[in-house]
Amino acid sequence: MPPDRILIIGSGTMGSGIAQTAVQSGIPTELVDVNETQLEGARSRIENNLAKAVDKGKLPASERDDALSILRTATEIVPDEKISFIIEAVPEKLEIKTKVYKLIESVYPPDEVILASNTSSISITQLAAPTIRPDRFIGMHFFNPVPVMQLVEVIRGLNTSDETTEVTRVLAEKMGKSPVTVKDMPGFAANRILMPLLNEAIFALMEGVADAEDIDSVAKLGLNHPMGPLELADFIGLDVCNDVLQVMHREFGDPKYRPCPLLVQMVRAGRLGRKSGRGFYEYGE
Ligand code: 3HC
Repeated sequence: MPPDRILIIGSGTMGSGIAQTAVQSGIPTELVDVNETQLEGARSRIENNLAKAVDKGKLPASERDDALSILRTATEIVPDEKISFIIEAVPEKLEIKTKVYKLIESVYPPDEVILASNTSSISITQLAAPTIRPDRFIGMHFFNPVPVMQLVEVIRGLNTSDETTEVTRVLAEKMGKSPVTVKDMPGFAANRILMPLLNEAIFALMEGVADAEDIDSVAKLGLNHPMGPLELADFIGLDVCNDVLQVMHREFGDPKYRPCPLLVQMVRAGRLGRKSGRGFYEYGE
């Protein structure tokens, strides 16, 4: 049985995308963020996305209204007995995530809720270790843009139970996604495949094999990728790409995962891609 109501913590791009997908699937959702401005931004993003879908004739206005009526936003985590599943989508910093889990456990009895992290790179086993019920902790890795991308990686930590895995898969399916269960290995499955590709494209750019537009054209026209690797790296965030590669490099100890020096430099320069207005391409304001 999917949970009656879910709680999502963190209203950035991923948190708001997960919330939009959940309410569009009829799952009452509470979206929490301590940052009120970010929370308001998330609500307007969701409203705008749904309004666009209505304008395009892809969503009946009544379904938009139904979805928005089951979305609640709040700046604090408060107890709600209907909530049995919590998705954490806060920044990719171990200390921040650990602090959030402590807070959750002080409000929700750890044996009554499942705690899922949308982390893209931190080990699920490591995140689960200090929690009270590591068997009820799991990775639920969504892809950006969440309302569009079909995949959810369901990542089992060393102590994650079969029951937790099953409930998470059922929830992902209820959200219209296709879950794939993977082991808790660095990069999980998707980023382990994707990040070396993006990194190699950055090496090709650094070595002058071709310019950025041509490298992207190769992937789009020759491989049928919807976005070129440099465009996609900008879309994901160069800091995120660098973090994931660093984790894989450190944990496998294999030089094939070393982040390209140009990527490291771009991050140091604050050229993080779309979110900072400049990465391999310029995005204006
Ligand atoms: N939120 C909601 N919907 C969105 C959206 C967003 N941010 N961006 C685009 N869409 C929707 C549009 O409304 C449109 O819907 P429609 O077909 O119902 O009208 C549809 O997506 C297509 O959008 P567009 O026509 O504007 O643009 P494109 O056809 O160029 O598609 C794209 C945009 C879906 C982003 C496509 O380029 C794509 O699939 N790119 C690759 C994305 C990808 O690989 N994501 C995974 C990144 S890795 C990751 O997230 C893991 C992390 O750990 C790093």
